[in-house]
Amino acid sequence: MHTPPPGSYQALYEAALPADWPQPEQLGFGRLLGPYLVHAQHGDDSGWHAPSVSARSALPVPVASGGLQYGFSVFEGLKAYRDPQGNIHLFRPRDHARRLQQSARRLVMPEPPEELFMTLCQLAVQVHARYVPPHGRGALYLRPTLYAEEDALGFRPATRHRLAVAVTPCSDPAPKTVRLWAELELTRAAPGGLGAAKTGGNYAAGLAGLQRAKERGYDDVVWLDALTHRQLGEAGTMNIFVQIGDEVLTPPLDGTILAGITRDSVLRLLAASGVRVSEHNLSLDELMHAQMAGQLGTAFGVGTAARTVTIAEIGDGSRSILFSDTGLAARVYEGLKQVQEGSTHALREWRAAVPTPQA
Ligand SMILES: Cc1ncc(COP(=O)(O)O)c(C=O)c1O
Repeated sequence: MHTPPPGSYQALYEAALPADWPQPEQLGFGRLLGPYLVHAQHGDDSGWHAPSVSARSALPVPVASGGLQYGFSVFEGLKAYRDPQGNIHLFRPRDHARRLQQSARRLVMPEPPEELFMTLCQLAVQVHARYVPPHGRGALYLRPTLYAEEDALGFRPATRHRLAVAVTPCSDPAPKTVRLWAELELTRAAPGGLGAAKTGGNYAAGLAGLQRAKERGYDDVVWLDALTHRQLGEAGTMNIFVQIGDEVLTPPLDGTILAGITRDSVLRLLAASGVRVSEHNLSLDELMHAQMAGQLGTAFGVGTAARTVTIAEIGDGSRSILFSDTGLAARVYEGLKQVQEGSTHALREWRAAVPTPQA
């Protein structure tokens, strides 16, 4: 029902890359957007409409819409990679579809059916197939966004929504090492709030924390629990893992942090490789004690955009927790890269093929 007629976008499949298009290593992240949006409208009276493809500039969001006025907007971020043969696949798209449904439910928005999400993402990759970097050199990042677009004011659920997929081709993220600022004053999310939903409000709440981190010479912020400001939550756009002794720990999904798909992948990859790993509350005090006892190993952040990032330090202005690099973050990075890019046959079920005429 949601699939466009075969061949209807053939001209887009065959479009050439712009002559001045950069090498994959120069793309960075989020700077160059694909020229098309793939989208489907939802009306309270008519349900989900068939997908269509538009020029990116042809889809304005009304100023009066709930999407802009009240932040009635939820989104996802997932990547399409080329395997060693050049074939394109999406990484864990159905998990992203289900998380979008959960976010939508929390904001009283219509839940896009999983098959519609898959169709839109596949079509977004297909019409931008030329933009998917070669194997091992980057990915096409997809940003499916569901927003209230009814052109009317009023604090109530909108009667018209749209799910639109924007894309940005990006470089393979280089392994990085960062220092995190533990934010003791501001709060990103509280119990019962929006923290587990992937919605703009969380990022709006978090931007000042990121700025405060940068002003103090840190690279990113790590959010603490809203009640005591002692327990680690997550970083700006990453979940966090810490190695203490022979165990690797990550904060539990308590409704205040995002249930990262990369977090889940890393939990499963670590467990499969024999590492003791568990979901566990982690306080700044515990980390200090582990440091003093010589038990503190590597810490790392994980997320779709960055893959893994080594954490050298967490500081809160009065104390500094210094992690030692045991090489675990680099091993996780490599393991994840292989599975995401399809360089291994393992975990094939995490990759969904995207058929393209010129693959
Ligand atoms: C706040 C936040 N936490 C965690 C993550 C990591 O989630 P995922 O691994 O699904 O990309 C993201 C990713 O964008 C994020 O924005």
